[in-house]
Amino acid sequence: MALRVRVCAETDVAEGQLRAFAVPGVTWPVIVTRVAGELIAVPGVCPHEDVGLAGGALVGATLICPGHGYQFDLRSGRCQHDPDLELRRYPVTRIDGDVWVDLL
Ligand code: FES
Repeated sequence: MALRVRVCAETDVAEGQLRAFAVPGVTWPVIVTRVAGELIAVPGVCPHEDVGLAGGALVGATLICPGHGYQFDLRSGRCQHDPDLELRRYPVTRIDGDVWVDLL
């Protein structure tokens, strides 16, 4: 069973912009961005050492963690530095102009 939550409005996220949204009951915010028009949502914490990703940089489709600079391809979630690390991508659903993500 999925746990689907509303995170933001589609208009809250512009192409190339990283936005962090607090979700009640969830420790880390949900990061939402658009890459080539696709809405992408990921956890707001790095899978390397639990550093928040809200302060990270976005370069094209690559999210750079502010902790140690690891780079994650948001199209796949793959880490370019460590093949064992992956940034999970939440399934995204658009409903009536809002962005919903499946946390589970
Ligand atoms: S905590 Fe993100 S790269 Fe180390």
